[in-house]
Amino acid sequence: MTRHFLRDDDITPSEQQEILDLALEIKANRWAKRPLAGPETVAVIFDKSSTRTRVSFAVGIADLGGQPLIISTANSQLGGKETPSDTARVLERMVAAIVWRTYAQSGLEEMAQGATVPVINALSDDFHPCQLLADLLTILEHKGSLAGLQVVFLGDGGSNMAHSYALAGATAGMHVSIVCPKEFAPATSVITDARAIAEKTGGSLTVTEEPSAALAGADVVVTDTWVSMGKEDEKAERVATFGKYQVDKEKMALAAKDAIFLHCLPADRGFEVAPEVIDGPQSVIWDEAENRVHAQKALMVWLLERV
Ligand code: CP
Ligand code: NVA
Repeated sequence: MTRHFLRDDDITPSEQQEILDLALEIKANRWAKRPLAGPETVAVIFDKSSTRTRVSFAVGIADLGGQPLIISTANSQLGGKETPSDTARVLERMVAAIVWRTYAQSGLEEMAQGATVPVINALSDDFHPCQLLADLLTILEHKGSLAGLQVVFLGDGGSNMAHSYALAGATAGMHVSIVCPKEFAPATSVITDARAIAEKTGGSLTVTEEPSAALAGADVVVTDTWVSMGKEDEKAERVATFGKYQVDKEKMALAAKDAIFLHCLPADRGFEVAPEVIDGPQSVIWDEAENRVHAQKALMVWLLERV
């Protein structure tokens, strides 16, 4: 049966490991895999802005021998005139896979329901699972392994990135702490799902308002914008609420000496992260951005092998 990648826990711990191993192989040998040779087309649809996701999917699809078809929802029938389900029925007859950046997770679920080609979540309001594959690849490269590492995400605990860290981190057997204001905590269902996974992998998920204890000895420190796409109207309130969660030099000093800093980008320097941290020696953000290509190529190869 066709597999989809809509949330980080759509893959098991061993499948996550397989995809990351494949990403390392593909990174070492760019042209190793050509499942889209023909070229076959992959539709990459955007309801929201993007730089990294757009370019990394376009490059990755071309590297795999295929042709990316980048679609802006504004110039398509999706997003008003046609349902995700009808769109999927049409696209699956023409393309090898559908990649979609959208708002509601339910739209992705509708798109994937019964689709005969893989549907990939390129960011929704709830999850950013492709970013997490790239982040895990980056952490693996810098730390040598994933299971048992202490990862701290500071900021908007209810955001797509925090949710994805909870699920993907638990899948990898990591100890994930989400540090956030009480009113911006992760969704209860995500906490429950992540903890159920962590119980099997030996990882854990902690949600706390206090940065210090969570950061003590941390291996990986992560943040993301306080104002995700679609939340722009709440900017003033968010900036006022999130102030104490900025990743600055003082917070990095609480983490392990060899801790690394990740940010999926785009970044608001001076808000969620101090310039000296994101542009400092512990920051691995450029590796992280590059790894979007390798991780997503591996994901596509893996999904296409299962169609
Ligand atoms: N990190 C990320 O998804 O970046 P873009 O919004 O530029 O795609
Ligand atoms: N949380 C951010 C991620 C951007 C890549 C957003 O949704 O805007």
